[in-house]
Amino acid sequence: MIKNRKDEHIAFAFKQGIRINRFDDVFLESTDLPEMSIEDIDLSTTFLGYDIPYPFYINAMTGGSLKATEINEFLSKLANHFNLPMVLGSQSIAIKDASWESSFKVARKHHNGLLISNVNPNFTLEQAKKAIQMVDSNGLSIHINLIQELSMAEGDRDFRLWNDNIKNIVSNIQVPVYVKQVGQGMSLQTVQKLKKLGVKAIDVSGKGGTSFIEIESNRSKTDYSYLESFSIETVDALLNLKDETELDIYASGGIRNPLDVIKALTLGAKAVGLSKWFLLLTELSMEEAIQRVEQFITDLKKIMLIVGKQNIKALKEVKYTVKS
Ligand SMILES: Cc1cc2nc3c(=O)[nH]c(=O)nc-3n(C[C@H](O)[C@H](O)[C@H](O)COP(=O)(O)O)c2cc1C
Repeated sequence: MIKNRKDEHIAFAFKQGIRINRFDDVFLESTDLPEMSIEDIDLSTTFLGYDIPYPFYINAMTGGSLKATEINEFLSKLANHFNLPMVLGSQSIAIKDASWESSFKVARKHHNGLLISNVNPNFTLEQAKKAIQMVDSNGLSIHINLIQELSMAEGDRDFRLWNDNIKNIVSNIQVPVYVKQVGQGMSLQTVQKLKKLGVKAIDVSGKGGTSFIEIESNRSKTDYSYLESFSIETVDALLNLKDETELDIYASGGIRNPLDVIKALTLGAKAVGLSKWFLLLTELSMEEAIQRVEQFITDLKKIMLIVGKQNIKALKEVKYTVKS
């Protein structure tokens, strides 16, 4: 059942169109006098306390099917080429059925850099440790996806253990850990609760790109599109947290191009995750995919020139307006 689900998620995710989203309502102030060369731009930042060369990462997607194995192999080779962090898809299938471990291990085989495990909050501390050992990962992401579960015919209905599991994992695990959403965005209430559980880093993963409400509606042939009313655009999730000082904030959800990355960084993210954008690259040859990522990096540098900032930290000084 889960294996099949993974393949359906991938197939429906491919089919979703690229959306107009709230990143289009964010306007950054530009300058024609940046006083530097493109060679001076430094795109390095940190992710979960690790230094990374570029401010973006391959976000959680797959594992647990043959198609997912191919995708993980392709993306891990790409991640290795650019030294990008790669977040794995949920490892729950491999915890339940060890024969699927190889669909995740393939990523470690090809990627020497940062590899991040992915679990759901039903995982106990012991299971989370197993997920980390399975791929010798450098960090752990816990995804919270209540609305997705509820719009899945076979999804979870009992969430009593989530808070305790998150608390237990964040206080006892040996690698850096963060909590992520899956494209519906984190409300302020959720963030406040996570902080009380000891969470130190989050990926707000908001609305604007891949919609699991739409994917699950398609799978179950039941229209849950009205639940999008609860979804929070990535831009708004970041704006809600603009006075937050205790958390490391990462952003994903609807990042379509290098300008969206720069906007998310300006709004407070330390690094930015892309899923759909990387999923589309898996249809290309490795050579073409490498060229696309190279172009993406060059274009990030061009935008840094347009806003007149030399490094990622300085982006926090960029003036911006947001259309309401
Ligand atoms: C095919 C597919 C599978 C995904 N599976 C997972 C998953 O297993 N665990 C998880 O935390 N997020 C998962 N996600 C959610 C992404 O990590 C991300 O939060 C979401 O897709 C929004 O980013 P995007 O608009 O760039 O796609 C998946 C996304 C896609 C497209």
